[in-house]
Amino acid sequence: MKIAVFAGDGIGPEVTAQAVRVLDALAIAGLERVEGDVGGAAFYKHGHPLPQATIDMAHGVDGILFGAVGDFSCDHLERALRPEQAILGLRKELSLFANLRPAKLFAGMEGFSALRPEVASAIDLLIVRELNGDVYFGEKGIRKLPDGRRQGWDMMSYAEDEVARIAHAGFKAAQGRAKKLCSVDKANVLETSQLWRDVVIEVSAQYPDVELSHMYVDNAAMQLVKSPGQFDVIVTGNLFGDILSDQASMCVGSIGLLASASLGTRQTPYGTVGLYEPIHGSAPDIAGQNKANPLATILSAAMLLRHSLGLEAQAVRIEAAVARTLADGVRGGDLGGTATTTEIGDAVLARL
Ligand code: IPM
Ligand code: MG
Repeated sequence: MKIAVFAGDGIGPEVTAQAVRVLDALAIAGLERVEGDVGGAAFYKHGHPLPQATIDMAHGVDGILFGAVGDFSCDHLERALRPEQAILGLRKELSLFANLRPAKLFAGMEGFSALRPEVASAIDLLIVRELNGDVYFGEKGIRKLPDGRRQGWDMMSYAEDEVARIAHAGFKAAQGRAKKLCSVDKANVLETSQLWRDVVIEVSAQYPDVELSHMYVDNAAMQLVKSPGQFDVIVTGNLFGDILSDQASMCVGSIGLLASASLGTRQTPYGTVGLYEPIHGSAPDIAGQNKANPLATILSAAMLLRHSLGLEAQAVRIEAAVARTLADGVRGGDLGGTATTTEIGDAVLARL
């Protein structure tokens, strides 16, 4: 078993360090770990946010634990050299098209949600976000119109096979949960969404046990704060999924609590090759201050054990230790507490 840790920028190194401590504490026999450079950190070291050596490393491991990328000092660079290209490039390079973003309220955290406690307590949903297509990867540019005005443009598109494979991922996820799938689109305005909806309906014929519904993304954003308990699995495109998953994070209390798995179809001897990252960014404003919440990254490591290494029992152990840490009132600044990054890591280790 081999995993890679790509810590990246900002708080990335601090939070991944705590997740690595947790993995080390489990002392998993035969687990090898390598480290690679990504993001602004890689740009300053090697001149590229996703160096070839990192890509090669990524191809040779069962799973990747990813911190965060993003560095304001790189904002002036051409887009291809900006830190974000590291994560976008890895998702594409490894064909990681299915992004699983679970959002569940931890016991005792009702008071920390941006929603009223009785609304928040019902949250237990999974966003299945498509990760290889949409407006993210279409042609784009800034051009001059004939009259001299500048125009920015980004091409949104989905081919039917791209929709079908993420629909299958959504239906399969729903089969393992409460068997409800809500497909989120904007079919009242966008052709891309109309095709999305048609294909999801076609695929649904193979999953008669799953109850399928459709929702426009604006309504979904509203329903997510009005009554999030109605959702089991949400399947949606890359852009809508990016937005709705940040929104879901505040419904459970903090963006510092949401983990994610990005999966493709390549199998390891123990599961599926994947990349695992907190859904939050590099938070440059608090980087290097030992203030960031490492729990989302620690929970991402648990997902790595589950999906890529087939170590379900170890994943559950980590998740239970995180739940206990929160229940015992160990909280960082994002949750109104004073615990530092390392103290939160200590607390998880103690409960492990
Ligand atoms: C995320 C992030 C990324 C995205 C950025 C860093 C490119 O916001 O993983 O949600 O937009 O996908
Ligand atoms: Mg995002």
